[in-house]
Amino acid sequence: MLNPLVYKRPTGGAVDGQGPAGPFGVCEMALERGTSLERWTSESWRGKPIQQAPAYPDAAILADVEKTLSGFPPLVFAGEARKLKKELGEVALGRSFLLQGGDCAESFAEHSADNIRDFFRVFLQMAVVLTFAGSSPVVKVGRIAGQFAKPRSAPTETRGDVELPSYRGDIVNDIEFTPQARTPDPRRLLEAYRQSAATLNLLRAFATGGYANLENAHRWMLGFVQDSPQSHRYQELADRITETLAFMRAIGLDAERHQELRATDVYTSHEALLLGYEQALTRIDSTTGDPYATSGHMLWIGDRTRQLDHAHVEYCRGVRNPIGLKCGPSLKAEDLIRLIDALNPDDEPGRLTLICRFGSDKIVDHLPSLIRAVKREGRRVVWSCDPMHGNTITAGGFKTRPFDRVMSEIRTFFAVHQAEGTYAGGVHLEMTGKNVTECTGGARAISEGDLGSSYDTTCDPRLNAEQSIEVAFLVAELLKAERGGLPQQARAAE
Ligand code: PEP
Ligand code: CO
Repeated sequence: MLNPLVYKRPTGGAVDGQGPAGPFGVCEMALERGTSLERWTSESWRGKPIQQAPAYPDAAILADVEKTLSGFPPLVFAGEARKLKKELGEVALGRSFLLQGGDCAESFAEHSADNIRDFFRVFLQMAVVLTFAGSSPVVKVGRIAGQFAKPRSAPTETRGDVELPSYRGDIVNDIEFTPQARTPDPRRLLEAYRQSAATLNLLRAFATGGYANLENAHRWMLGFVQDSPQSHRYQELADRITETLAFMRAIGLDAERHQELRATDVYTSHEALLLGYEQALTRIDSTTGDPYATSGHMLWIGDRTRQLDHAHVEYCRGVRNPIGLKCGPSLKAEDLIRLIDALNPDDEPGRLTLICRFGSDKIVDHLPSLIRAVKREGRRVVWSCDPMHGNTITAGGFKTRPFDRVMSEIRTFFAVHQAEGTYAGGVHLEMTGKNVTECTGGARAISEGDLGSSYDTTCDPRLNAEQSIEVAFLVAELLKAERGGLPQQARAAE
């Protein structure tokens, strides 16, 4: 039985044009859970225990920065987040597929037009592979334009006899191992906002300004992958797309007149880790009167911060964006159901994406019981596979991920869903458009000895462009097998 969480009218906050809400940027909303009233505000998380919060030395500077942020324009609009939620609702029902990916942590130093373009074109290629070879509409959500904050397994790092705060992402501190660099600095929140705005601006331009036109499918090939097995596979697919477009033109359907061939939707997402930043960018939507996080379209709760009665769940339950929840090996089925009660009490399809990250050797022990519990309770969720975070090892002094294990977790994810009669709805990848050597294996067989040649990540190892496309081809095959490659109309009529 669902535990109804009913929105009352907003009790405060600006309802006009997504402006800052309330005198100090606090959005209020009364939430009714069962018979008791539980008030949610954009700052009610402050009364809860919290994990992974940086220790800022000066609370007054932090408060000042958060106040400044609360006066800044929203980065995304509530209507866009609603549109994404609707599209994810189609994913939950098995009619579409979620492709989510990007850096583990965006880096201030790597913020450049070239990097954004290189990511975007590989992401587009992957989406085209999934759409064309997998015969499925694809919802594209980048880990981008705000993915700066990192949870860490230890609060400090020790080198020799020096112990300093851990690096928590460029939005918090600097990776350099000095006391000054590692001290959390609130002013970095402003730089993260500025970079997110610039990145998003370019992404929107790429998505709608002609670059993403399907007629360009051949031109998205990156120079450095032109001679690889993946590039040949991709070129063949691009040839088929060109042929199809020529046929469509011949019967009067061309990109000039059909926006869906000429432009695409790309959404942004990040882990909602720094709740002061999220609160400052929370706004009341003028159309619905509901609160939305406007730092990105979709936010997710990390595996280390998903405690039911803690701050991160409290913040996320109140904003109406699509929410992701990382599900690792320590998550029990009954706790998952309570988290679903809190985060998606109305069972809205598309509201909640369960991002499973168990590891290739553990997934069969954990995923089936979670799926069965969700099925038993009749909840509608998107099941997505993060084949990265459970497959991290250390080799040759580097954190890496063997490509075979990444592929194996994805295969098992699809197999388990097939056995349980549910949909494998998406993948969640750490990837880059650059030619890095951070994950071993793949068609070019990157060895442990190769890792040092181009190891650029400031956090977890990412799939490079070629490995990402290889994953896309695998997923396309699995998707076609799962869904029979039938056009959507045929599926709907089944
Ligand atoms: C991440 O997605 O970068 C991350 C830290 O994941 P998780 O919370 O699943 O460990
Ligand atoms: Co990561």
